[in-house]
Amino acid sequence: MLCISVEEFLFWKKKQLSKGGDQQSFAVLLDCIGGIPASDLNLISINPRGNLHLKKNLEFLESVWDDHLLNSCPIQYLCGETFWRDLKLIVTDKVLIPRSETEIIVDIVFKIFGNKSQKLFFAELGTGSGAISIALASAYPTWNGIATDIDQDALKIAIKNYLNHSKQSNLKFYCGHWWTPFENFKGQLDLVVSNPPYIPQDTYETLPKEVKNFEPKIALLGGEDGLRHIREIIQKAPMYLREKGWLILENHFDQGEKVKQLLIKNKFKSVEIVNDLSGIGRFTIGRYK
Ligand SMILES: C[S@@+](CC[C@H](N)C(=O)[O-])C[C@H]1O[C@@H](n2cnc3c(N)ncnc32)[C@H](O)[C@@H]1O
Repeated sequence: MLCISVEEFLFWKKKQLSKGGDQQSFAVLLDCIGGIPASDLNLISINPRGNLHLKKNLEFLESVWDDHLLNSCPIQYLCGETFWRDLKLIVTDKVLIPRSETEIIVDIVFKIFGNKSQKLFFAELGTGSGAISIALASAYPTWNGIATDIDQDALKIAIKNYLNHSKQSNLKFYCGHWWTPFENFKGQLDLVVSNPPYIPQDTYETLPKEVKNFEPKIALLGGEDGLRHIREIIQKAPMYLREKGWLILENHFDQGEKVKQLLIKNKFKSVEIVNDLSGIGRFTIGRYK
């Protein structure tokens, strides 16, 4: 641990932020590499006298910040970690950096199921870093879950994250294309959640370079109209869901109505578009018969 004066630190921090970047990314750098949690950062600003302890020196932190600014590499990949809900998750360029709007999927589940302690069986299709499944498995220790991904490297990250966060064993991981890992679980799932790749091809080409150049294409691209994967997931869902089982999907900002119609066409009931915190119809949910 290195000890420096708060005054020196605040001067340095101001200089770094004057070069560019945003406060949130800077907070990730300070927490994950510097060892200063965001809560401490607020206290430091209120009381700027005294000293603070850093895990790495300012030169090293500055070099990571400069790398982020110069190459547009997401700070989460440079730090190897990110924050999502109350979880600190390992992330590499094999997994999508879980987005804050996706946190609402967990709130939707809480709203539907409350604090039900009965045994339920849930699945997540396309788990990436494992964020959603780990949050659900931790919130509902009596539930059993299966988290899948087509990418074995992504699954390795998800498993590490699960082991870091849970002493339970109520979440399993399988590799495979959408529903294929569930051949032995037909008609058994009470809840399936998925944030599949849904970016249309032409939108993908215009994504900011910090996304397009660094995040896995397989996690983003949803075919020509963005709905390729969502369509497949919805069409096959009736085979795997239990009667009255729920399907909760994240979609692109303008896909809500189309996803809703797909669910209705496939005999889902209680179909609803749920807004994210910006008022965008980001999630579409339904119950199979
Ligand atoms: C948008 S990311 C979501 C990751 C994570 N669930 C989250 O919300 O941050 C989509 C995930 O689906 C996975 N995926 C893509 N195609 C797939 C397929 N055919 N079958 C299963 N998973 C797939 C990707 O590897 C990626 O991890």
